[in-house]
Amino acid sequence: MAMQRILVTGGAGFIGCNFVHFIMEHTGLHVTVLDKLTYAGSLESLSGLPSSRFDFQKGDICDAGIVDPLTSSVDAVVHFAAESHNDNSLADPRPFIDTNLAGTFTLIEAARKHGTRFHHISTDEVYGDLALDEPRKFTEDSVYRPTSPYSATKAGSDMLVRAWVRSFGLQATISNCSNNYGPYQHVEKFIPRQITNILDGVRPRLYGQGLNVRDWIHVEDHSSAVLTILERGQVGETYLIGADGERSNREVVEMLLTLNGQQPDAYDLVKDRPGHDLRYAIDSTKLRTELGWTPRFSDFASGLAETVQWYRANEDWWRPQKAVTESKYAGQGH
Ligand code: NAD
Ligand code: DAU
Repeated sequence: MAMQRILVTGGAGFIGCNFVHFIMEHTGLHVTVLDKLTYAGSLESLSGLPSSRFDFQKGDICDAGIVDPLTSSVDAVVHFAAESHNDNSLADPRPFIDTNLAGTFTLIEAARKHGTRFHHISTDEVYGDLALDEPRKFTEDSVYRPTSPYSATKAGSDMLVRAWVRSFGLQATISNCSNNYGPYQHVEKFIPRQITNILDGVRPRLYGQGLNVRDWIHVEDHSSAVLTILERGQVGETYLIGADGERSNREVVEMLLTLNGQQPDAYDLVKDRPGHDLRYAIDSTKLRTELGWTPRFSDFASGLAETVQWYRANEDWWRPQKAVTESKYAGQGH
């Protein structure tokens, strides 16, 4: 029977809410969002969705009493909910253990009990980092080498899903995606932090020398890849998602400054992140050739310009988080 109803965990966060909007626009699926509404979740990111096809449940993915009935009432679970920010994981790892490990465990137990299809959202950070000059990129066969509390818990959650597939026949797929950018991203993250700093007349802040490289993908392309895997992915398989968007942090800040009519060197270098991964790069050949996926945003510069416009137009959405986020960073020397 065709899929009709899905549960999206973490649907009030950055990628989750973009995925929900994408599903509303491109499919006829009914979506239930389960989200704890931590500092990173916002109901405003989901406003205006049709009540005939969407409902929201506030709750913790660690709570089996909430997770179990929701999982039994849908055809598939798409699991985005996580503590997602590396700097926070260095300041206080505990919530990462709870949500990313115990939360994923709670969900896959419910999914195996009810035979529910499960898609686990993960990150390229589980593979550790690459040297700046090596030609190699991450593939589905790369060795797991997480380096931060965040990436270690995401790696652990991937391992749980893999074990549940093999030991219990869980109907699961996994995707590991590179760094996302686009609308509704929390101002703690690199690109929104620098955009909103510039809009506030504050100089952007680069960790270390700004040489670290991230492989940027527009969040809408992440959504289309996840829908592709949900519809056509092979149970038990892992797919890497990336759009060939490697840029150093310094290049990104220079682009943001230029887009905002400022000198490209009007930034400050600040204290580096402990254990800071040098470079991520994704080889998404498997997803492209086996499932026929292609990204729509092939031009990072225009995707970035659209994102700057979104933050200019949506100050009401980000302003309430800005001061508290910056005071946290000030306490960390960033
Ligand atoms: P986010 O921090 O913006 O959102 C996380 C959401 O999960 C929030 O709405 C939060 O309220 C919710 N949540 C947190 N703990 C919860 C709990 N215990 N129960 C229920 N809900 C809870 O994160 P994001 O950047 O949108 O990332 C989403 C997923 O994608 C994560 O699994 C992350 O590891 C993965 N990912 C992110 C990126 C990226 O660039 N941001 C890249 C690859 C993979
Ligand atoms: O690779 C995927 C991962 O990308 C996801 O799994 C994570 O959830 C997501 O947060 C992101 O992790 P990063 O640590 O790469 O993202 P962040 O936005 O925190 O930082 C991006 C880069 O920018 C990183 O090299 C650190 C640097 N940085 C960050 C901030 C906030 C700065 O130079 N200055 C800053 O102010």
